[in-house]
Amino acid sequence: MQIRLEQPSDIKAIHAIECAAFGRREEADIVDKLRAAGALWLSQVALREGAIVGHAAYSLAAITDAEKTNEFPALGPIGVLPQLQRRGTGAALIEAGFDAVQKAGFGLLFLVGHPGYYRRFGFQPALPLGFSSDYVSDPQQHEHFMVRVFDAQLIGSVRGHMRYHAAFADS
Ligand SMILES: CC(C)(COP(=O)(O)OP(=O)(O)OC[C@H]1O[C@@H](n2cnc3c(N)ncnc32)[C@H](O)[C@@H]1OP(=O)(O)O)[C@@H](O)C(=O)NCCC(=O)NCCS
Repeated sequence: MQIRLEQPSDIKAIHAIECAAFGRREEADIVDKLRAAGALWLSQVALREGAIVGHAAYSLAAITDAEKTNEFPALGPIGVLPQLQRRGTGAALIEAGFDAVQKAGFGLLFLVGHPGYYRRFGFQPALPLGFSSDYVSDPQQHEHFMVRVFDAQLIGSVRGHMRYHAAFADS
């Protein structure tokens, strides 16, 4: 399997994969909106035997407290062709994303997703670390709002409300 950056000729395949993975087109449309807005911070594809079978998108999210706003990457959407799931493609995409995030010098990576899947990659609930999100409507059920901490020194010094790029607004 190969992980590489999105190329212009991949765009149709990426749309198809995100649609197939989620069984609807909202997530694929978010990827297109991010790209059109110049806000697709990182877009990686996974290839098997030369064909694209998975895709992961990253955009910059704003973390705002009373004094300042910081930007950190957020993962999503990520999708793998349903018939090719459970073969490590999702994990390979996530690990490649970790490399890119760290190489870019970011100490935090956010996502909203299934804790059962993402914990294995070191993601942890973000709410107890001082972050809130519009995606947490019930604080009793906050665990899908997660962060991967690469730089522990940021915990406590960065805190606040996390907002995805506006491309996510209608979704
Ligand atoms: C999530 C997704 C990208 C993982 O891709 P993948 O290539 O199947 O992932 P991997 O092969 O690396 O890992 C598979 C493992 O993840 C688990 N998994 C997949 N989706 C999961 C979920 N929603 N909750 C918990 N575990 C999940 C599988 O059960 C499997 O576990 P096992 O190895 O213990 O059997 C893929 O399942 C997918 O496209 N899902 C539909 C779209 C989606 O929900 N995206 C994520 C939104 S948060």
